[in-house]
Amino acid sequence: MTDKATAAGELTDIGNKRYFGEGLLRWYRKERRDLPWRRSRNPYHIWVSEIMLQQTRVDTVIPYFNRFVGRFPTLRHLAEAPEDDVLKHWEGLGYYSRARNLQAAAREVVEHYGGEVPRGKAEVSGLKGVGPYTTGAILSIAYDQPEPAVDGNVMRVLSRYFCLEDDIARPATRVAMESLAQSLIPEGQAADFNQALMELGAMVCTPKSPSCPVCPVGEHCEGRLQGRERELPVKTKAKKARPVFRLAALIEGTGAYAGKVLVRQRPETGLLAQMWELPHIEAPDEEIWNRLDEGAGLLEAALAEDGVRVKASNEVVGEAQHIFTHLVWKIKVLGAAALEERYVADRTGYRWIGPEEFENYAWPNVFRKLLTEYFLLVRRG
Ligand code: ADE
Repeated sequence: MTDKATAAGELTDIGNKRYFGEGLLRWYRKERRDLPWRRSRNPYHIWVSEIMLQQTRVDTVIPYFNRFVGRFPTLRHLAEAPEDDVLKHWEGLGYYSRARNLQAAAREVVEHYGGEVPRGKAEVSGLKGVGPYTTGAILSIAYDQPEPAVDGNVMRVLSRYFCLEDDIARPATRVAMESLAQSLIPEGQAADFNQALMELGAMVCTPKSPSCPVCPVGEHCEGRLQGRERELPVKTKAKKARPVFRLAALIEGTGAYAGKVLVRQRPETGLLAQMWELPHIEAPDEEIWNRLDEGAGLLEAALAEDGVRVKASNEVVGEAQHIFTHLVWKIKVLGAAALEERYVADRTGYRWIGPEEFENYAWPNVFRKLLTEYFLLVRRG
C-alpha cells in the first residue's frame, strides 16, 4: 500500500490532497479564462480586481476594471486622485465603501511602503478594506506566497469535495477552511492553485447545479460520491433585508432652471457617503408611505428645514428599490414644484442639474435609474 492509495483503491489523506492539487492545476492551465487581471502579476491590478470581485460577477467587473486601471494606472495615480473621480469610476458597482477604502489604502501604501504593495501578511492585512480573503489573494496571486484565499466559492468547493457539514456562515468554519486550503497548495504553485479553486467554483462547482460529469477532481469528490453535492455546503440563512420606506421628491425647475431637477449630495460619512440623490425622507412606516397626502406633507416639511421650499404632489412619478446587505430602500418618487428657487443654493448641498450635467456626478444605482428614466423618457415626451 503506497502513500497514494489504500488497497481498496481509496486515497489516503495525503494522496487525496495531492490528487486534488495536481488535478486542479492541470485543468486550470488548460481551461482558465483569459481575464484582464490575469495578464500580469501586477499586485495593484490584482488588488483592484479582488476588491471589485467581492459581491460582483466577473462579467460585470471586466469593463469596470479596464476603465479603472486605465484612469488610475498605478497606485500613486489612485492615491492622488480626487475622491469624486474614484467614485465616478466605481459608479454602478455598488458597495461604494470598497472604493473609498481602496483609495485610503492606496494612500497608506504610498505613505508607508514607498508606493509598492507590501509582501508581508501583517502589512497587507492591515490595509483598509483588506480582509483575510483579499490578503491571501494578493499575496498568493501576485507574489506566489502559500497563503490561502478562502471566500464563499472556495468554501463551497471544499465542503463538497471533503463532504464537510460545518456551517460556512460561522467564522470558525472559515478559519478551519483556511487551514485546509493552505494544506492543499502544491509547493510553489500558490498563484495558480488559488485561482484554480476560484475558477472551479465559478465554472464547474457552481451553487445550484454543479457540473460533476466534467469536474477535473470529481472522481474522488466525497460529496458527489455520497450524492450530497447539492445539499452542500451547509449555510444558515442570513436575516432578510429590512425594508425601509422612502419618499423622494422630483422637483422640476422653472424659469432660469427650466429643464433641470433638484438633487443633493449625501453626507461625508455613512451609507452611500458623498454620492448624489433625489431629495428624500424616510417615511415613519409603510402605512404612511402608502398615504401619499400625508407623505407629501412630511416631505415638504423636511425639505423646508434645509431651506428648500417645495409643493409636493401626491402623484407617484417613479418607483424603485435599492438593496443593501441588511436593508432594502423602497422608494416612491412624488412630483414636486419649487416655490422659491433662489433659496436653493450650493451651500445647502442642493443643486439644479440638467441631463447634460448628469454624468458629472456619482449616483447610487437607484437614483441613476430614476433620473435616467426622467431625463430620457418623461422630458422627451
Ligand atoms: N473571484 C474572485 N477572485 C477571482 C479571480 N482572481 N478570478 C476570477 N474570479 C475571481
